[in-house]
Amino acid sequence: MANSDDKILLQTINISKTYPGGIRALDKVSFELKEGEIHALLGENGAGKTTLIKILSGILHPDEGKILYNGVEVAFKNPLDAMSLGIGVVHQHPLLIPNFNVYENLKLYATIIRQRLKIEELTNLLKIFKVEKSVLDKKIADLPSSIRQKIEILKVLLFKPKVLFLDEPTSALTPIEVEELFNILKDLKEEKKSIVFVTHKIKEALKISDRITILRRGKKIATLENKGNLQEDVLATLIVGDTTLKAVSEKVEGLPRNASDEHVLVVEDLHARDDLGIYRLKGFNMKLRRGEILAIVGVAGNGQKELVECLTGLRRFDKGNIRYFNSIYTHIVDFCDVVRKYKVSYITDDRIHTGIARDLDFLTNIMLRDICIEGRGIFIDKKYFVKRAKEMIAKYDIKAPHEKILVNQLSGGNIQKLIVARELEVKPSIIIAEQPTQGLDVKTTIFVRSLLLSAKGDTSILLITYDLEEALSLADRIIIMYDGKNVAEHSSKDIDLKRLSLEMLSGVT
Ligand SMILES: Nc1ncnc2c1ncn2[C@@H]1O[C@H](COP(=O)(O)OP(=O)(O)O)[C@@H](O)[C@H]1O
Ligand SMILES: [Mg+2]
Repeated sequence: MANSDDKILLQTINISKTYPGGIRALDKVSFELKEGEIHALLGENGAGKTTLIKILSGILHPDEGKILYNGVEVAFKNPLDAMSLGIGVVHQHPLLIPNFNVYENLKLYATIIRQRLKIEELTNLLKIFKVEKSVLDKKIADLPSSIRQKIEILKVLLFKPKVLFLDEPTSALTPIEVEELFNILKDLKEEKKSIVFVTHKIKEALKISDRITILRRGKKIATLENKGNLQEDVLATLIVGDTTLKAVSEKVEGLPRNASDEHVLVVEDLHARDDLGIYRLKGFNMKLRRGEILAIVGVAGNGQKELVECLTGLRRFDKGNIRYFNSIYTHIVDFCDVVRKYKVSYITDDRIHTGIARDLDFLTNIMLRDICIEGRGIFIDKKYFVKRAKEMIAKYDIKAPHEKILVNQLSGGNIQKLIVARELEVKPSIIIAEQPTQGLDVKTTIFVRSLLLSAKGDTSILLITYDLEEALSLADRIIIMYDGKNVAEHSSKDIDLKRLSLEMLSGVT
């Protein structure tokens, strides 16, 4: 563990940053990173964590304040300046090029940062990350998010940084992979590397860090030594800064669960292949009852992605069928038609690419569903939507100054709230929710979950999640997905966690 007379390697003094839209993302933040420590940067969505990382890695310039490296003031003109001091960053949103294969991406990165790609180093890291060598030839777009995330981290480690920033690196990882990552980080620490681990998850911060700095709405609230004496609820209060947390979490627990026997969505014997022609669905079955929340739980990469793609018309299936209410499909050519006919909502886990139109404003994004799916086009009543947008911002507590703000200026959590708001406000009959709280902070997570729970009843919800806790706290029933099949089913009332974990990890029932 780092002790107090350790050398301070990197330091900020009174750093502030206001974005062009007027949002003050950082307000006189002073932060110290010691040599050989793992320092967690903890805060809810929109707290300013990513902004601080971007400033420390030369992507953004502060409006005021200083950065010191080894006690000497530095001014990063660009990311290369930071890299030349040995600062490596794993960004929150992967920067890999989807149409390139893994090797080409690594090669490209090496070229950009003017380094040589060493094959022995690469082979070694692949082993440490438990990634098959054959993955090097696969296109990024075809890889599950957990492997993509590993490649992202590996890419930065290849060039042996002295300081490593990881911005929410675990959101695409399964619990076991998180453990593995933590072990890798501990080894790096042994090598005297300094690590800033950005997270909104209190448990992760407690587990991995020597010290924790808490940011709230752009301000540094505290830096705490983590010596096993910190309480989760104390940290939660520091992060959120009010009593909202307790109120919302009571709401989640207090809601009734009920469902009927009518089926609104049925999947039978579904077989489908991925883009490489490998079977990812091998006879999957499920029935969603009216008014229930059914969770599909499993380790990432067991066919969940392909299942959602089949359900939303993005992937053809070879065998089996999907039934929405009375319509049986052997392939879904026009998902918009299904959405129109049966009021289906889809909350995607790829919020940046498919959930929204990044470069358009909030208002347009709210209208998107009507413009594209309902086919209203020119008949849109804009005044009505302005009113609706304002209402949504208030009701869903979205941190947007006005409805004209470009969506790419919102934090991830607020973008997710936008998507959830848009998809819930149509009062759908079915919601397909794919990792709806991925990457969200505690408060927003509880909020989104409470929204799903209160929609339940009139709405039936299919929840696809890698987060067991989420499935347990929301679902009436849980189906375990393993190797493209449903291997087990549980009612949430009687769960044997040990058995369930075993089913998830090995398909054993
Ligand atoms: N490019 C941007 N333009 C305008 N505002 C932004 C931009 N990026 C982030 N923000 C705003 O700055 C605040 C801090 O965001 P961010 O640093 O991403 O927080 P965190 O990483 O803690 O979730 C948020 O209110 C966010 O909406
Ligand atoms: Mg962030």
